[in-house]
Amino acid sequence: MKEETNHVYPLWKKLARANLAAAALTVAAAEKPNVVILATGGTIAGAGATTANSASYQAAKVPVDKLIMSVPELANVANVRGEQVFQIASESFTNERLLELGKRVSALSKQTDVDGIVITHGTDTLEETAYFLNLTVHTNKPIVVVGSMRPGTAMSADGMLNLYDAVVVAGSPDARAKGVLVTMNDQIDSGRDITKAINIKTNAFSSQWGSLGMIVEGKNYWFRAPVKRHTIQSEFDIDKIDQLAPVEIVYAYGNVPASLYEGAAANGAKAIIHAGTGNGSVADRVVPTLQKLRAKGVQIIRSARVPAGFVLRNAEQPDDKYDWVVAHDLNPQKARILAAVALSQITSSTEIQRVFWEY
Ligand code: DGL
Repeated sequence: MKEETNHVYPLWKKLARANLAAAALTVAAAEKPNVVILATGGTIAGAGATTANSASYQAAKVPVDKLIMSVPELANVANVRGEQVFQIASESFTNERLLELGKRVSALSKQTDVDGIVITHGTDTLEETAYFLNLTVHTNKPIVVVGSMRPGTAMSADGMLNLYDAVVVAGSPDARAKGVLVTMNDQIDSGRDITKAINIKTNAFSSQWGSLGMIVEGKNYWFRAPVKRHTIQSEFDIDKIDQLAPVEIVYAYGNVPASLYEGAAANGAKAIIHAGTGNGSVADRVVPTLQKLRAKGVQIIRSARVPAGFVLRNAEQPDDKYDWVVAHDLNPQKARILAAVALSQITSSTEIQRVFWEY
């Protein structure tokens, strides 16, 4: 009997251990948040020829599953799975791709087995996508957009830690209801405020009103919360938007011709973002053209090429008299996103100005 028990016992012991381990893993998995990574390309998925190539590389090469495998620590903080939505450098984003990505994010956010969503993205237009999602995805679940300034093949690559931080934040209950977030270079920023201010350093991103917080060794430290409308507070719903209005930007400078604005309108622009000098100033030779275009129904929205501050209404330019809109503190590329979203359901300049105050 004893012999038989000895023979059978080790097998049961192994099975018991395996079941305990599986149970422990299940418990652990049950305790960890479920985070989905939607990959779109960019440098975070880039590859260079040598480890010395921190700036010379090809973006959008590494598939999402390999990205996830390259950071095994992700498994310690969340149950992670990936989807490859696009594999592009982000300068190649379009309105159609924004809508496709936004609708996928929205659908996932409604799933009870999804606690948070990470979008890996090129840094060139990351700020536009982050703001677009902030305006249109109706969820309190954390949505975190993340990129990197160096490819994973480079010495001191920043993508691994940026991705780890993004997954931690996406799985954090204290990141809920803060709007779309961006984790770059240990910072947690609002998708509304973040912009790429430097084009070749790892501290490329900043928000003129400051980060919302920091993340250090997998712990979030919060210092402020957004005050502008976002996500579930928004009147704009990605699930009800099938097309974004064509909105173009004209970058102003000494000698800028009025023909650039006429060309934008001739190409079908429903609104023109004036990336003005100074406080969104308009050259005297351009004013009559903008008045003519406004009279034809084109919205004129004054932003500024100056990276910080905000455009004042009726300061140097008589916005009330000309029925123009001011973009407030939004840079031209973000003003374009908000105008394109707003024009999907709003037509009056008064209402559009309200939207620029509130979002
Ligand atoms: N081509 C740029 C982009 O995909 C590379 C920049 C980056 O992702 O850091 O946005």
